[in-house]
Parts: sequence; structure tokens; C-alpha cells
Amino acid sequence: MTRRIDILFHLADRSAPEWIDAIGRALPEARLHVWPDDGDVAADYAIVFAPQPGHVAALSRVRAVFNLGAGVNAFWQIPELPTDVPLIRLEDAGMAGQMVEYATYAALRRFREFDFYAVEQRAARWSPRERQDKRAFGIGVLGLGALGLRVAAALRDQGFPVSGWSRTAKEVAGIATHSGPDGLDAMLPSCRLLIALVPLTPATAGLLNRRTLGRLPRGAVVVNVGRGALVVDADLLALLASGHLAGAMLDVFSDEPLPAEHPFWHHPQIEVTPHISAITQRDESAVQIAAKIRALERGETVGGVVDRSRQY
Ligand code: NDP
Ligand code: OXD
Repeated sequence: MTRRIDILFHLADRSAPEWIDAIGRALPEARLHVWPDDGDVAADYAIVFAPQPGHVAALSRVRAVFNLGAGVNAFWQIPELPTDVPLIRLEDAGMAGQMVEYATYAALRRFREFDFYAVEQRAARWSPRERQDKRAFGIGVLGLGALGLRVAAALRDQGFPVSGWSRTAKEVAGIATHSGPDGLDAMLPSCRLLIALVPLTPATAGLLNRRTLGRLPRGAVVVNVGRGALVVDADLLALLASGHLAGAMLDVFSDEPLPAEHPFWHHPQIEVTPHISAITQRDESAVQIAAKIRALERGETVGGVVDRSRQY
């Protein structure tokens, strides 16, 4: 007979009933409880989104905490978070394909100069240009994890020269790979488009600043789909104003929702999207979490366990 499993949901602002239904369908053998009403239940696992300080006592008693997202930076703002309970994040779960779509749009918009033609249309100007040389349109992807690797491979398959950067050295067919701070410095001068898809950690906060962005070639474009605080906003704005950078496409921000008075909203060279580059897919995520809970119950190891010393 299989053991009964108790799951506690701790969801700050992710629509709770739909998530509870999805987990219920994916894991019908589990009993589901919702914080704060059932906060004292002796749960086996917790499913958490956007944890808040002071609300985590129940989390210290579970066997594992599942995060309803790939990024876990919000957890580190909670000093009382138990350190001996594994924290498990989503791995792809339907997000990589969406990141590929977003990055492909950003790359083709700039490479085929649709941004330029949009301006020309508004002025009723017929302004055909020579085709750009694709071999000279280098694209850099920061982060070669579950999402970044898929993005880099898709752009490579589109025929772009792609380079990728990660913390540890990797070999990926058809992609020029780099690692560590020196690797980043070496890679940036070849990137006409730079896509940030690293997690926000103490090592990556402020990674895209005046110095690093200044190493991009003149006229480069920056895409940030990782986390807002990877970018120093004032430095990005200064490099756009100086003409060193030609544009930016930003999906994530240090302060979300992006405040109405923020200069990014009305900047003519910045495209803003509201953290939608990869939207969490409820059913795929629920199936992934259910499979991992069943594996843990069998005593197996699972992927996506966060390394607290690296914070991702
Ligand atoms: P992974 O953990 O699978 O991959 C992270 C990658 O970043 C790895 O290649 C890792 O290197 C690299 N990395 C981490 N730290 C450093 C560093 N200091 N220097 C160089 N490289 C580093 O994460 P995912 O691909 O699943 O997700 C990446 C991020 O995307 C998430 O953390 C989240 O912030 C963001 N995200 C944004 C979404 C959106 O809608 N905008 C949706 C989903 C995620 P290594 O391989 O060597 O470990
Ligand atoms: C995530 C996100 O980390 O939605 O999954 O940003």
C-alpha cells in the first residue's frame, strides 16, 4: 500500500485554486492543505510561490520545498528559511520553448531591422536597406542552464554565430562557450545581441554594468529575461544615451511591477514586457512536481535541487 502524502501550499500571489486543482490531478494520492488555514498540519512536502518573511515555520517540518518557478532568488530574503530542507525548483516545465520564442523574436527584429522599418513606416518613408551579414551578427547567451542552453541552440540552428557563458566550463556543439569572469570579458566584444538568462545571485547581481556593457560592440542590443537586478539601470540608460548601445528588450526589473514613473517605460530604444518571456505552465509544472514527489517517496534523487552555497 502506498503511503499517504500530505502537501502544504504556501502561495503568496499565484492563483491558488487552479494550482491546487492541477496538483490534485497530477497526484491524486495526496491530501492537499493550504497555508495559512492549515498552516499547522504535519505536511510531507510544501509547494511555495513568493514566500514572505515570518510565514515559514511550517516549511521547516517538510521533507522538501518545491518552488513554483525556475528562479529562487526570492527565498534568500527570508532569514528564517530552514537550511536543512531541500529546495527544488522547476526545470524547464514548458518554459524553455517560450524563452526560445522570445529570444528568436528579439534576434530577428534586430537582425532583419524590423525596428528600423517600423520607424520608417511611421514617417511614410520607403527605405530598403542592404541585408546584414548574418556571420557578423554574433549573439551571446549568459547562462547555459535548462533555459539558456535551449535558447543558444535554437539561435545557432537559425544560423547565428552564438557564444554562451556559464559558471562552469561546458562544451556545446556549434556554440563558442566561455566561463568565469575572464570568459565573459572575452566573449562580450563579439555580441551584437546579448541575452541575459542567468539566475540572480550574489555573483551575478549588477553583472550588466557600465564596464561589462561597455565591452559590447557599438550598436549592440541587450535582452534581459533573467532577473532585473542583473542590470544596473542607470548604466544601461547612460550607454543608450551615449549611443554605445542601440537598444534593450527588458522582461524583468529590479522592482516589479515596473513603477509607472520609471524611465524605461517611455524610452524610445527600450521595449518593456511584463515578466512574460516564459510563463509558468500549470499542468506541466504539476506533472513535474508530482513525478519528483513520487521519486523522493521511492528514495530516489531528483533534479532541480538548489545548491544553497551558489544560491541557484
Ligand atoms: P539553471 O540553473 O538551469 O541555469 C543557470 C545557468 O546560469 C547555468 O548555466 C549556470 O552555470 C549559469 N550561471 C549561474 N551563475 C553564474 C555565474 N556566476 N557566472 C556564470 N554563469 C552562471 O536556470 P534556468 O535556465 O532554469 O533559469 C535561469 C533563470 O531564468 C532563472 O534563475 C530565473 O531567474 C530566470 N527565469 C525568468 C523567467 C521569466 O519569465 N522572465 C522564467 C523562468 C526563469 P552552470 O551551468 O555552470 O551552473
Ligand atoms: C521563474 C519566473 O523563475 O517565472 O520561473 O521568473
